[in-house]
Amino acid sequence: MTRDDLAAHLEFFEALGVGGVSRDPAWRNRPVPDPPPAAGGMTVLYQSAGEPRQADASTPPQPRGAAAPLLAAIRADLGDCTRCKLHGLGRQQIVFGVGNPTADLMFVGEAPGADEDVQGIPFVGKAGQLLTKIIEAIGLTRSDVYIANVIKCRPPGNRNPEPDEVAECEPFLFRQIDAIRPKVIVALGKFAAQSLLRTSEPITRIRGREFPFRDAVLLPTFHPAYLLRNPSAKREVWEDMKRVRALLSRARP
Ligand code: URA
Repeated sequence: MTRDDLAAHLEFFEALGVGGVSRDPAWRNRPVPDPPPAAGGMTVLYQSAGEPRQADASTPPQPRGAAAPLLAAIRADLGDCTRCKLHGLGRQQIVFGVGNPTADLMFVGEAPGADEDVQGIPFVGKAGQLLTKIIEAIGLTRSDVYIANVIKCRPPGNRNPEPDEVAECEPFLFRQIDAIRPKVIVALGKFAAQSLLRTSEPITRIRGREFPFRDAVLLPTFHPAYLLRNPSAKREVWEDMKRVRALLSRARP
């Protein structure tokens, strides 16, 4: 790492509001006080049908060792998917998801962009590089977590995914979540948060709050692409990530 790289890294951490850094393992593993609980504790948003958006009663809990073969089976079921129109609208490949099949922490974004469409891996472009730094800021690496998107194919011109595309693709994401059984799911940005929680509440109202979701706690935060345009919002993301770190350190209820 060059001096310039190091300076940029430290500036980023400063912008995130990180109070200090040390190479001392004892410092890195120091107990971190929990942030104050979210006002009102866990929030349940209701779908238009009036049902709480929680784990399906029909979803049997998976033994954790089964996650990798389950993910492979889900990928095989997806095949060279032509279920929605995106397969004919210029997508190069399906971007399934990447990371630790037994991750406690999962990130869910909106949809692959141009870089992800080329590489077949979620969050590898500029926003993805910032996501990698955010993950590292809480002492984890990309290979500790699992990263996926609400939909698996790039919409043309990076437009928002359309309802029929989400309807076809989302069941595969839900199967991934049920296979991985993360403790915490971070929904990245307005689209992922609103789509998963079936809400139209603005991201500014729901970010940093905890929602029960498929046997996990779902916490929305700002999308890294938004942070690239609005660097001052990194402070709020850092607050959200501290809450994520505290949630991860708690035993599963
Ligand atoms: N933005 C997303 O929401 N997902 C990606 O994979 C890349 C950019």
